[in-house]
Amino acid sequence: MNAAIRAVVRAALDRGWRAYGVERGYAGLIEGVFRELGDRDVGGIIHRGGTMLGSARSEEFMTEAGQRRALANLSAVADALVVIGGNGSLAGAHALADAGAKVVGIAATIDNDVRGTEIAIGVDTALGVALESIDRLRVTATSHHRAFVIEVMGRHCGYLALMAGIAGGAEAVVIPEAPLSIDGIAAEVRAAYARGKSHAIVVVAEGASRGASAIVDQLHAQHADLSFDLRVTVLGHVQRGGIPSAFDRLLGSRCGFAAIETLARGDSDVMVAASGGRFDVVPLAEVATGPCTLAPTQLELARILAR
Ligand code: F6P
Repeated sequence: MNAAIRAVVRAALDRGWRAYGVERGYAGLIEGVFRELGDRDVGGIIHRGGTMLGSARSEEFMTEAGQRRALANLSAVADALVVIGGNGSLAGAHALADAGAKVVGIAATIDNDVRGTEIAIGVDTALGVALESIDRLRVTATSHHRAFVIEVMGRHCGYLALMAGIAGGAEAVVIPEAPLSIDGIAAEVRAAYARGKSHAIVVVAEGASRGASAIVDQLHAQHADLSFDLRVTVLGHVQRGGIPSAFDRLLGSRCGFAAIETLARGDSDVMVAASGGRFDVVPLAEVATGPCTLAPTQLELARILAR
């Protein structure tokens, strides 16, 4: 997100505009916590994860009164707002636009569940962290002949788990969009052993009907003869703390720049979206209809390549 903030600020200043950062997202907008940002204020941040402005989940912004306060504070300081965040933030951006603000959104969430864009800022970095962890766990799995059940984040979406499963060579992937029973997971682990593998990796999305710990408990209870010893690892917030990848720095930079161009054209109530290597705009009204669902077509790819 820092790359996007830096690009928004520098592209705006390049046009002779002034730029302000809102601290802690909508919570800061409601409290009116603005900070004028110059070129140097956004220096030295492109290689840092997270956001220099801070982030918060604001209950108050969910209310009409909260949104009125936010809009009043915004109008007193700025002509337009760039919102960088996931589905909740972008739905909030649409609400502000509905109430009369000029707003452009940028998708940033490791879950990659924002409707209208192929990829959100943060996904590539989180995937890289998940993969590095899977690669490391595989070392123990192989040398100790174990099966590891690894839980990755992603909220209700299986994207991160499925991609980590494909790129990490998992024997099985369990995602909300394509549930797998305990018997089904046990069968995949046994099949890996039967094929002569010295380990089995099962990647589970946190949004799946059972978490990794519950899966391991149930495997122990119902399938004591799995051939591999079982271990569980929940990656959790570690995935959100990586040094931003080159891809994410470029995506953030390009999205931030595109957001200012969009505002300069006079467009509002839209999100800038990566599509086929280009940047389009998508109405925030469409984005705000809710998270997109993952078509689990690539599960077959994961299954066949795990052989
Ligand atoms: O939406 C991003 C995300 O990291 C999800 O993958 C995860 O479920 C959630 O946020 C965690 O939220 P929090 O940091 O509030 O616990």
